[in-house]
Amino acid sequence: MTNEWRPDSWRQRTAAQMPEYTNAAELADVERQLATFPPLVFAGEARTLHRQLAEVAEGRAFLLQGGDCAESFAEFRGPHIRDTLRVMLQMAVVLTFAAACPVVKVGRLAGQFAKPRSEPLETRQGVSLPSYRGDIVNAMDFTPEARLPDPQRQLRAYSQAAATLNLLRAFAQGGYADLHRVHRWNLDFVAASPQGERYQDLANRIAESLAFMEACGINADTVPQIRETTFFTSHEALLLGYEQALCRVDSLSGRWYDTSSHLLWVGERTRQLDGAHIEFVRGIANPLGVKVGPSSDGDTLLRLIDALNPANEPGRLTVICRMGRDKVEDVLPPLIRAVQREGRRIVWSCDPMHANTIKSSSGYKTRPFQRILDEVRGFFAVHQAEGSYPGGVHFEMTGQDVTECTGGAQAITEQGLADRYHTHCDPRLNASQSLELAFLIAETLKEFRQNRLEAEGEPSYSPGVAGGAMRA
Ligand code: PEP
Ligand code: CO
Repeated sequence: MTNEWRPDSWRQRTAAQMPEYTNAAELADVERQLATFPPLVFAGEARTLHRQLAEVAEGRAFLLQGGDCAESFAEFRGPHIRDTLRVMLQMAVVLTFAAACPVVKVGRLAGQFAKPRSEPLETRQGVSLPSYRGDIVNAMDFTPEARLPDPQRQLRAYSQAAATLNLLRAFAQGGYADLHRVHRWNLDFVAASPQGERYQDLANRIAESLAFMEACGINADTVPQIRETTFFTSHEALLLGYEQALCRVDSLSGRWYDTSSHLLWVGERTRQLDGAHIEFVRGIANPLGVKVGPSSDGDTLLRLIDALNPANEPGRLTVICRMGRDKVEDVLPPLIRAVQREGRRIVWSCDPMHANTIKSSSGYKTRPFQRILDEVRGFFAVHQAEGSYPGGVHFEMTGQDVTECTGGAQAITEQGLADRYHTHCDPRLNASQSLELAFLIAETLKEFRQNRLEAEGEPSYSPGVAGGAMRA
């Protein structure tokens, strides 16, 4: 990896998971157009995220990264984006308040369109067609026309990402995310559930804290974080032609940024050390993520870290572990030891979704909620034992009342999956399951931080008013 990097140097490497476009001239024309379009994010925003992730790497904040497995053109509506955001805000507030820890909020949003697939072809009743690879590539219908990769879809994805980002920025900074509205983020169908009630209770305590702070002269005029928040975007850097076309040199730093999103990650299927995806992301200055599954070992991880974070900058690289609840406690410790032995500063995040997928008896791909909770618990337990910091979680969720993962307080059964199974790709947590997960993480994180402080001889704290003021 000593060769000179350019936005197109990935083209000299083998790129896994690429669609086979049949019209090279049309594809080149689309990429040329994208290269002239305005950037979607500003390099300064990516640097802010980098700084916040450095706080996570140092154990002073927590990363909450979540959103759709795959965004779709059909579900491109304001209420849909708003509902995903409000569940993320709820989860963040639960963690900030209950665990008294600043939370860095990153959506799998505004660009999460391209999907890796285990098989290049899908066969139904003897007919084989190219697999669906996300709305930026082709369409889901099982017809030859729909499955043909269409370059024009990249232009539509760019527009949808731009409009989504615009709405997210408006919500984050235009008053919707004001902590005084904390009660109103509770979605109707969640409000009556045990999670909804628990959340109402927490919202009441936040409101009390805000009133107390107001009386002390601390309000949104003196502390703007009460009125607005920062919400970042991320997606998998999979469709490299699109990502290359959105690379721009930042005039302040002179460095290349991929302006399609704040954070880009490389997936489990495309993280080959000598492959095109690692080559592409190593040269962009955005914060990066890399997924690692149960087959990885300490050496492989260290070589990935060498390639992606050679300067050992905290906040540059998040390693997203997706081991499966049965494997996390065996596979993760050697990885952590290797990283600690070499003194590498990374963020450790847990994706409890992607290695806990099963086929239900009713034929649906699902993820039992209990397995998701178990993997999160296992992840925290390993970090506790190894003396490292469990920095964040990465999950697939939606603000809608879907039935895609079994279990949770709503007790969704395998038969019940058929009721509202809408995902374009993997099964997602619904709003109520997401909130339930947030409460579990908050408790686990609070306990972890208290144990750590006590071990370091610091007096332990009890989360209270400070939680409101420590908003990231
Ligand atoms: C994903 O995040 O949707 C995904 C495909 O994950 P992984 O690369 O971990 O399989
Ligand atoms: Co997924």
